[in-house]
Amino acid sequence: MTCPPQPDFDRIARLYRWAEYLTLGPLLVRTRNHFLSQLPPRHRALILGDGDGRFLVRLLTRQPHLHALAVDTSATMLQLLCQRCRPYADRLQTLQTSALAITPNGSPDLIITHFFLDCLTQPQLDTLSLNLATHTTPGTLWLLSDFGPPRPRALRLLAALYIRSLYLAFRILTGLRVTHLPNPQTSLQAAGFDRIARHDRLFGLIYTEIWQRR
Ligand SMILES: C[S@@+](CC[C@H](N)C(=O)[O-])C[C@H]1O[C@@H](n2cnc3c(N)ncnc32)[C@H](O)[C@@H]1O
Repeated sequence: MTCPPQPDFDRIARLYRWAEYLTLGPLLVRTRNHFLSQLPPRHRALILGDGDGRFLVRLLTRQPHLHALAVDTSATMLQLLCQRCRPYADRLQTLQTSALAITPNGSPDLIITHFFLDCLTQPQLDTLSLNLATHTTPGTLWLLSDFGPPRPRALRLLAALYIRSLYLAFRILTGLRVTHLPNPQTSLQAAGFDRIARHDRLFGLIYTEIWQRR
């Protein structure tokens, strides 16, 4: 079996933050951080595809007993993440590999995937969710943010065009082969997680959720 090539986010790592501000202003930052202050104290976080570490540094600041493992395929993203999280280097480990290839060490009590699951196909996401469920215990939280279909039907066509253009841009810039948003809700539910919180922006085009392992 041949695996599709990994996307290469090194090419856009240093521009990623500015491209995000230019296209969506502060919306993604606000979405990632929405539940930050409501997270209960955690000890072991597994953070997948965090990119340049803007979320992780805030999390480590807020949660003084938290140790984190950050997994990303991009060396440049991990480099930026380490620079940003330098004050907390003693609580941070990084691993440059695909999230699809990891076997979590110990049992994370917090999983974080902000705008990362949309880099996966549905079968990849199903496999990842089942793998993570196997290595977690009841009560583990999974904080995620992503794009989705907006609730008003009238906006769906416009949103579909927008998502399509985002995928096209990522295909050109990083080689990402995924073309459709996967459905994290069906994957997480089937893997044994229940949604306990959700916050929508732009009528649900952008959302963040917390799931808890049953
Ligand atoms: C769209 S960016 C999201 C970055 C950040 N989490 C955010 O909220 O904007 C996707 C990130 O996931 C990483 N990535 C893509 N595919 C991956 C994979 N299979 N395993 C681990 N990281 C991956 C990329 O290198 C990049 O840092």
